[in-house]
Amino acid sequence: MSRISCLIVETDQESIRQIDILSRRSGAFEVRWKTHSLTTGVDIIRKHAPEMAIVGLGPDVDDSIGNISMMARDFPSLYLVVLSDRTDSDLILRVIRAGAHDFLSKPVKEADLRSVAEKAAKLRSTRKESAGRGGKIISVFSNKGGNGTTTIVVNLADALFRLTGKKIAVVDLVLAHGDVTMFFNVNPSYSILDLAKNAEKADYDFLHTLLVRHTSGVYVLADPPLVEEAEQIAASQVREVLTTLRSMFDYIIVDTPHQFDERTLTALEMSDIILLVSLLNLPSLKNTQKCLELFNRIGLRDERVRLLLSRYLPNDEIPKESIEGIMNCPVFSSIPNDYPTVISSINRGKLLSEVAPDKEVTRSFDQMAAILDGSRPAKGEPAKRKGFLGNIENIFRRRGA
Ligand SMILES: Nc1ncnc2c1ncn2[C@@H]1O[C@H](COP(=O)(O)OP(=O)(O)O)[C@@H](O)[C@H]1O
Ligand SMILES: [Mg+2]
Repeated sequence: MSRISCLIVETDQESIRQIDILSRRSGAFEVRWKTHSLTTGVDIIRKHAPEMAIVGLGPDVDDSIGNISMMARDFPSLYLVVLSDRTDSDLILRVIRAGAHDFLSKPVKEADLRSVAEKAAKLRSTRKESAGRGGKIISVFSNKGGNGTTTIVVNLADALFRLTGKKIAVVDLVLAHGDVTMFFNVNPSYSILDLAKNAEKADYDFLHTLLVRHTSGVYVLADPPLVEEAEQIAASQVREVLTTLRSMFDYIIVDTPHQFDERTLTALEMSDIILLVSLLNLPSLKNTQKCLELFNRIGLRDERVRLLLSRYLPNDEIPKESIEGIMNCPVFSSIPNDYPTVISSINRGKLLSEVAPDKEVTRSFDQMAAILDGSRPAKGEPAKRKGFLGNIENIFRRRGA
């Protein structure tokens, strides 16, 4: 297990030097970043995700505590330690209430530092084991190819990163013939197979070796380079891979295969949100409805499942508003149909935000990211049924969907 990676945000150079020396001597953690500026510190956390941050309390205590509270909220997986030359219990209580995990008083003692590092290491291993907490897994699924699933995965990941600056990983679970690396135009040396084989020993450094960081800021875990290697990955390993990723990333966006094998089901079952991709035409809706029925049978049909209309063209025969009633599932969002823009971005190995930032199709990903991250409310109640909805329901009934 690697040492805990630590950032120090402190203006007092003597304290920084002291912590650095003590950390080297004890070997309990490694000071990798030092800064006197909180803004730089926050940037470092966003970019490098240290496991622990020791943050000096500034002269304006209220202001500092406000900042601690913001950091605790924005970086829930960071072990946050406050450093101060004041030791009054009122202050310590306020700091802990603001969300800090621990408190160190100046001058820092080696035993105190070691104890803090031990607690941070404990939290790290608890996080790794805990499947329920940590980052959110968003699986994008369609039971038919060609609906735009991979397009949604990569551009949603990009939009989420641009909106939040959080740590985002994209996983290509289309193991035998994934497209994610092509869409991102990256050529990683490692793949999900390497992580699957070593998931139990994956620490921060190992994981960051296996995933390639795209210029957008999104991390990519590739499909295996050889088709036959896909078979070597078991459903239990998919579970381990996702559990590991969840401990170190805020969002894990999974591109899933178009068939229900055990590995796909494992990913869906572990997901916090399942974006079920459909087109707004009868064959596709029928397929999607079958899929929802299957979800129902296997206990996956709950509030996690959101319908996502891809390649959306307003259609008088099947108004978007009627879909929720027919499917009995909320329509989460829709991605406009814009073939020239999308295919040009794919062919150039670029994201939509790079080639067409102002197009409606690109903006639809920004809107979706804002809803997913909670910075924009989701749509309210399902829309009211429209007059000729009955016709569509009849079509569905007639066709035995
Ligand atoms: N919003 C969209 N508008 C128009 N065409 C799209 C859109 N999204 C995807 N496509 C096109 O659909 C095809 C399949 O997209 P892809 O993302 O590979 O789907 P999947 O992963 O479901 O097979 C691509 O040719 C792509 O250009
Ligand atoms: Mg695909």
